[in-house]
Amino acid sequence: GGTLFEAETGTLSAGGTFDSNHLGYTGTAFANPANATGAYVDIPVAAATAGTKTVSIRYSDGTTAARPATISVNGASQGTLNFPTTADWDTWATASVSVPLKAGANTIRIAGATANGPANIDSVTVSQ
Ligand code: GCU
Repeated sequence: GGTLFEAETGTLSAGGTFDSNHLGYTGTAFANPANATGAYVDIPVAAATAGTKTVSIRYSDGTTAARPATISVNGASQGTLNFPTTADWDTWATASVSVPLKAGANTIRIAGATANGPANIDSVTVSQ
């Protein structure tokens, strides 16, 4: 269960783009954040109630190296989440983390922890 929020409703740091040049994404695009440490996508999400929620991030990394990223909620770091490689850029996997959300609007930031930047990000699903 949970509620899905598309990455393309969010915003990207400089150099990022919303792309559609790979297969299998949902919605109208996926986020391709810049290839740099700290490059990010901010995704707005809503929670029905305050509490610890599971955030499942659908992503693709068609390279040979994982793309760990720092996850922040409303500006507060929640630590680093690994995003292991996928078979190619058309293959999507899920990385999940438990984070505190407030009731109503929240912002999830996925920021690259290496010079490769974050993986391509399709969506986040929030447990309710
Ligand atoms: C390729 C791929 C992009 C991806 C990029 C990257 O260019 O087509 O979708 O974002 O690699 O390494 O991040």
